[in-house]
Amino acid sequence: MRLLVTGAAGFIGSHFVRHALAQPGVESIVVLDALRYSGNLSTMSDFRDQVIFVHGEIQDADLVGKALRDHGTTHLVNFAAESHNDRSLLSNSHFVQTNTFGVQVLLDETRKNGLERMLQVSTDEVYGSIDDGEFTEESPLQPNTPYSASKAGGELLCRAHWVSFRTPVVVTRGGNTYGAFHYPEKLIPFFLVRLLQGKKVPLYGEGSQVREWINVRDHAAGVWAVLTKGENGQVYNVGDTNERPNREVVSFLLAELGLDDSLVKCIPDPRKGAHDTRYSMATSKVRSLGWEPQVPFDEGLRQTVHWFRDNEAWWRPIVEDADYKSFVEGFYGPSLGDDL
Ligand code: DAU
Repeated sequence: MRLLVTGAAGFIGSHFVRHALAQPGVESIVVLDALRYSGNLSTMSDFRDQVIFVHGEIQDADLVGKALRDHGTTHLVNFAAESHNDRSLLSNSHFVQTNTFGVQVLLDETRKNGLERMLQVSTDEVYGSIDDGEFTEESPLQPNTPYSASKAGGELLCRAHWVSFRTPVVVTRGGNTYGAFHYPEKLIPFFLVRLLQGKKVPLYGEGSQVREWINVRDHAAGVWAVLTKGENGQVYNVGDTNERPNREVVSFLLAELGLDDSLVKCIPDPRKGAHDTRYSMATSKVRSLGWEPQVPFDEGLRQTVHWFRDNEAWWRPIVEDADYKSFVEGFYGPSLGDDL
């Protein structure tokens, strides 16, 4: 197998490359990444010399086609995405360009260049929110934010290209993912880097929303199982059974760091109507491929806390970057450091 992995300078993509490098039968890996704000070469430092790096956007058909041909690619896995809901509430054209139009380019290039398979990494958020029970792969798509709508758009193109052209494509829908190298804008890494700096953390509302967490190593292994054993034209939920309200996750982080509740500030929910209450997915389909999550939530979260504590050299340049500071100030207000 000769792989091209997009977005592998980011969080889940980089873990997928680590996983793939340890598998038999992988002859070469090309990483294509635009190195936008959440993609970082330092995230790839442990495997940089084992992959070929191409800098560019997935929307650039010429670049994608050339990269596929130059390296005789047989399999393409797409992790490249704009992925932060809060950012999509501020402005969302980039989300549609990358998450929808970008996927169309990859599908076209997969077909034109005769690849054996493309895998599109999607999200459980395409289903919307569920109060009771769990989503199956047959549940209707009811995305609630511009981010999740743009991901649903990408997925629907996968379906259409399979039906119309028999482009060999499979889709995974991942749950809320946590672990090392997570760009510090999502709940767990954002709160960790703030707590490690002695700063308060902004919990939306009362923190009652429930997320279903999966360790990033399990997510990467799930994507590998679908890439190698899934069926073309199919969708596979990749999740674990760790449903937790946000406030419980935050209490765990505080306890692990030896801190108390005084560092938590409940703020008016900035997502307003777009804040999904609960996610939960049935995963029997991916489990039928022989995949099982391996990392218990408490153990994985503890390891993540320790990783962030021990790897300030990775996150410090990010949180000191002007663009990062301007997003945090723009979204949470300039008083984040003082009032919180
Ligand atoms: O479910 C999969 C999805 O999980 C992925 O597709 C997305 O890319 C990923 O960002 C994540 O979406 P969420 O919106 O659930 O993740 P986030 O970490 O941004 O928020 C998790 C919960 O924490 C959500 O209920 C909002 C809350 N939250 C988040 C932030 C950043 C806070 O209370 N305070 C915060 O500052």
